[in-house]
Amino acid sequence: MCGIVGYLGPQQAAPLLLEGLTRLEHRGYDSAGLAVLGTGLRVAKKAGRVRDLGADLPKRFTGKVGIGHTRWATHGPANDVNAHPHTDAKGDVAVVHNGIIDNAGTLRQRLTDDGVDFASDTDTEVLSHLIGRSTAETLEERVAEALAAVEGTYGVAVLHADFPDRIVVARNGSPLIIGVGEREMFVASDLAAIIRYTTTVAHLEDGEMATLTATGFTTYRQDLTRIQRSATEVDVDPASYDAGEHDSFMHKEMLEQPAAAERILRGRLDERFGTAHLGGLNMDARETREIRRVKILGCGSAYYVGQMGASLIEDLARIPADAEAASEFRYRNPIIEHDTLYVAVSQSGETIDTLLAVQEIRRKGGRVIGLVNVVGSAVARECDGGIYLHAGPEVAVASTKALTNMFVGFALLALQLGRVRDLSIADGQRLIAGLTRLPGQIEEILAGEDALAEMATGLAGAESLFFVGRVRGFPVAREGAQKFKEISYRHAEAYQTSELKHGPLALISTEVPTVAIVPDDELTDRNIAALHEIAARRGPLVVVTHAGVDLGDLDVRRIDVPRNERELDPILLTIPLQVLAYHAALTLGHDIDKPRNLAKSVTVE
Ligand code: F6R
Repeated sequence: MCGIVGYLGPQQAAPLLLEGLTRLEHRGYDSAGLAVLGTGLRVAKKAGRVRDLGADLPKRFTGKVGIGHTRWATHGPANDVNAHPHTDAKGDVAVVHNGIIDNAGTLRQRLTDDGVDFASDTDTEVLSHLIGRSTAETLEERVAEALAAVEGTYGVAVLHADFPDRIVVARNGSPLIIGVGEREMFVASDLAAIIRYTTTVAHLEDGEMATLTATGFTTYRQDLTRIQRSATEVDVDPASYDAGEHDSFMHKEMLEQPAAAERILRGRLDERFGTAHLGGLNMDARETREIRRVKILGCGSAYYVGQMGASLIEDLARIPADAEAASEFRYRNPIIEHDTLYVAVSQSGETIDTLLAVQEIRRKGGRVIGLVNVVGSAVARECDGGIYLHAGPEVAVASTKALTNMFVGFALLALQLGRVRDLSIADGQRLIAGLTRLPGQIEEILAGEDALAEMATGLAGAESLFFVGRVRGFPVAREGAQKFKEISYRHAEAYQTSELKHGPLALISTEVPTVAIVPDDELTDRNIAALHEIAARRGPLVVVTHAGVDLGDLDVRRIDVPRNERELDPILLTIPLQVLAYHAALTLGHDIDKPRNLAKSVTVE
């Protein structure tokens, strides 16, 4: 959420910063801005997209030191003045900031009482004034002094006209990485911004600061005591941050799912003993057997896939399991049990609600493992162990391949938990065979994209839709509705099929289509009975099902997914819903990767 990039070296900063901001735009696209130090400090900022900022950049916006920002608005509307960077009264200081300053109101009042005029409604501006008013000798001291007055979360980068040879940065709760190039230095909130220029990076931890100069970087704590952080090579293919021939990252990432699923399975299946090898869990068989309950925590789509994961764990390991929105969990003073295994699930590993839930559990002595995609992210580091998802970088705001690998990760976890408890070797081997078939079956579904696109065009015309499913199918419906609403902006409501006649059936009409999840399982007949109730009210139906399921004379659009083991049905039933959402949004002409009001990685509460 929000993106920061900074550059210092022999080249002109502005073009590099604009390029970096374009690659960070999925983090926030309400406004964008740059500050460069050339002859004096210059700032350009604007509501809207990075391309608008680039088009309007003043001539000779020159300087070889600079910082930039893309904003997802928290305090104050998305307009030009609220765009970052923010400056002090004299225009000597420029600050870009990710996070939230909780005591901004008090600080603003204090500064206003001292005669400071504020130009914006943002929390960030207090930082620029605090730094600008500091009389400490060095920029590092001025920044540290300002940060000492601040409560909240931040990743910040600061320029000062009186210290033109440096960028000072600090981190507390919002990621910052330093990139080391050939006689040039970078800072960014996300590797995506700088990957084209360097793969040598150092990560700052919370409570740490750094100074970047042309010759390198130094790191220290906020009390300015020096610490050693060295840069290391990251093993990432820069091409994974390019959409290539695809019109959007979402399309690219959807089609990458078979390969991503293969990656998470690689080296983790033990066919001989019908189990999974998950060394990263850091739990021996005795500890695993002592688990009495599993509690899964995540937000948004990660929460829905957590519900799918809970079913997998109950089915295969016979351990009571449930999933809860991490954003709610922490606020109800949850009872932390020592024989419960807590599982945090997150693509980014940065989602603040998930991170804070993990911290709360650990504070109370609970054991947490993570299912996380981004290696070394905050959630991954806070957990006692975990399973990396190996989905590769996910750029589109709408999660696809990470979500699929979360499901596969839960299947692996359920298998390992099950095999030291009740699950038979034969059932373990059955599941392994099913998991091995998954990538090919996902590919098969994606190959049917054209037919799905045609159905999506029909659905895109509806103002309101239902997505319904039962038991294993309900989280599928929730995820289907989530994906549809976030990129098509249509009202898509998920409901348990069994609950329809307890209220929502009143809304069914020719104008309100229903996407029904009807796998071939013990509930098929009951699901079909509900389809009849919808059809009797002339509600249009799209049914996601298995070949061979007899829908009789029902007038429906039908999507058949390949058969696998029943426990693995949910992910195969989910894939066509991603494709439907994508094509509905495309039909409506929406910006698929940058849905309105949203941003990738929600790092504010
Ligand atoms: C929906 C989506 C979001 C995320 C949620 C959690 O497509 O992407 O609902 O799933 O914000 O994000 P992570 O997984 O990064 O914790």
